Amino acid sequence: MLPARQEAELGLNREDENSLIVLKLGGSVITEKERNLTPNLNSIDRLAREIAEANVKGLMIVHGGGSYGHPLAKQYNIKEGYKDASQIEGLLKTHQTMLELNKLVVDSLIYHNIAAFSVAPSSCVVTKAGRIKTFYDDALRMFLKTGFVPVLFGDTVLDTEIGFTILSGDQLVATLATEFNATKLVFGVDVDGLYTTDPKADASAQLISNTTFEELKKMMPKIRGSKTTDVTGGMLGKVLEIINMMNASIQVIIVNAIREGNIYKALRGEKVVGTIIREE
Ligand code: IPE
Repeated sequence: MLPARQEAELGLNREDENSLIVLKLGGSVITEKERNLTPNLNSIDRLAREIAEANVKGLMIVHGGGSYGHPLAKQYNIKEGYKDASQIEGLLKTHQTMLELNKLVVDSLIYHNIAAFSVAPSSCVVTKAGRIKTFYDDALRMFLKTGFVPVLFGDTVLDTEIGFTILSGDQLVATLATEFNATKLVFGVDVDGLYTTDPKADASAQLISNTTFEELKKMMPKIRGSKTTDVTGGMLGKVLEIINMMNASIQVIIVNAIREGNIYKALRGEKVVGTIIREE
């Protein structure tokens, strides 16, 4: 059941077809990462409110798996592809739990009067050895053009080489931002941005507030993947995807989405603590 909406018009928002922002909401922000299948409903509601208040024209949202998708994907080795029939159950379970999480996010956005529309990547993406090979994006383009806010998520997808795999929200947003000529890609994560070294292990780690794709590539060897049950590579995976976008003129912003107001500021283009990655 959908919660009763506030008294306001649920309208379509597409005045300027040339501007598009892609927003990734990290799984560790919208779920309790240490507790299996536990959503962070306060976070989801607050973020939906911030997104509504930012009132962006042209927005696409992708969310991660957190404690919904990752533990199951890991248990059944879904990312590695088909090994034996016992994984099929795991593939279905992983997808179904992602649908549950997606429903919570989309319901919350609708509650805040955003015309959010769920789009499952497994229905429009095919990968080859883990990388996006085909994207049937006609429907997605039409949703955007009409003024809906498509809401996608890291998902289980079919793969032409390994049978199936996990498509991370990070690979998805990098592809979407490039293919749809987004002006900005915002990552909402559970740390303040990119650090010179791992801030959880090294007290001298410093936040990188401004960098370029080129500089980021040079920093690569120092960036570590996360140690939790993240089958898609944590911060390291994110940086790899960002580097792939090198030649697209997109501004990438990584902010802490647990801190209230950051997503609003990043979407509005206001000054915010985080990491900004530009072409030059
Ligand atoms: C993973 O998506 C989705 C599944 C495990 C099914 P992401 O890799 O984008 O998720 P987070 O943001 O790291 O949790």
